Amino acid sequence: MSKNYASPAICLILICITFSFFISCNGGDSTTTTKTTNEDSATKVIERGNYLAHHVALCMDCHSQRDFAQFSGPPKAGTEGMGGDSFNDKLDVPGIIYARNITSDTVNGIGKWTDDEIARAITRGISKNGDTLFPLMPYPHYNGMSKEDVYSIVAYIRTIKPNSNKVPERKLMIPMAMAYPPLRSESPEKNSKPDVSDMVKYGGYMMNSAACMDCHTPMDKGQFVMPKYMAGGRKFDLGSFVVTSPNITPDSATGIGKWSEAMFLEKFKLYRDRAAYSANPGKNNSIMPWSMYANMDDFDIKAIYRYLRTIPAVNNHIDKYPL
Ligand code: HEC
Ligand code: HEC
Repeated sequence: MSKNYASPAICLILICITFSFFISCNGGDSTTTTKTTNEDSATKVIERGNYLAHHVALCMDCHSQRDFAQFSGPPKAGTEGMGGDSFNDKLDVPGIIYARNITSDTVNGIGKWTDDEIARAITRGISKNGDTLFPLMPYPHYNGMSKEDVYSIVAYIRTIKPNSNKVPERKLMIPMAMAYPPLRSESPEKNSKPDVSDMVKYGGYMMNSAACMDCHTPMDKGQFVMPKYMAGGRKFDLGSFVVTSPNITPDSATGIGKWSEAMFLEKFKLYRDRAAYSANPGKNNSIMPWSMYANMDDFDIKAIYRYLRTIPAVNNHIDKYPL
């Protein structure tokens, strides 16, 4: 008996003595370190997801209620993830769809979905029951996000307070197959986030994750007009105001060719200050969620600018607010 106990103990002591020449052999310490590291990395994942959901991919723009009594309709506090905002023919939807409840409510939200099911909806537009989501939900773009970014969003979404809001069923006038876009890849497994050292490529990745294209590229019969990539011209009629997306290609006469990187960055940073958007702008309002994009990292905003400098300049004059 005692021999059985003694041998492993002696072995352990010997191992400790041997290894203590190289590393500290304090079991207690190393467990604490591992645990803290795990908690740290879980917190980091949620922080990254929070950043993407609020300031880049803007899940919390469409899936919350927006307050258009302020410039650019910042989300109303306490409505995060509850859904209910509707999109209709005025926004090129053949029918009416509603941003769904993506809080962890188990009846009306996605509380019963697995992480993989949520990731599938984000990247491939497939709901838990197999239905295809209308691609106004920017899954064709999110399909290009890295697996780490997608799952960090999933981890963050799970931390949102459950809300029991019941969202109405969508009504589409065309079969979903007609709206279903070809996806670049079946799953984001093979996508990776480009290294920040390649700022243009990284900027392209961030701009895709931010779905800037969806508003800044005109559409014809539900299809993007690619020769006018980022050249503006989508008209948004929100009832209380009408705004047309501007040309953000490097064309110097009609696009943002004359904007320096500093000007571009300042334009976004301006809206970090609540005072810049809290007053009711009346008819000169914007659908672009400036209050949310404003808190993108400076580096990410500059990277998007650098990417935008590399796309073809398109001459396309736009009046944001035609009378
Ligand atoms: C431009 C608006 C918009 C943005 C941005 C957006 N969504 Fe959506 N989302 C929608 C709409 C609209 C639907 C419903 C589509 C339909 O009914 O066909 C939807 C559906 C969903 C669903 C399916 C829920 C269900 O019950 O089937 C999930 C999950 C979801 N979105 C998560 C997200 C996440 C996470 C993000 C950010 C990465 C995001 N959405 C960004 C508009 C948006
Ligand atoms: C929901 C639609 C929408 C999205 C998404 C969107 N924009 Fe916009 N954007 C607009 C509209 C509409 C305007 C014009 C009104 C205004 O100035 O806010 C605009 C204005 C701008 C302007 C000002 C240009 C000028 O001539 O004054 C820039 C720059 C810009 N957007 C860049 C971007 C970038 C970069 C992204 C992605 C990170 C983006 N937008 C995403 C709709 C959108």
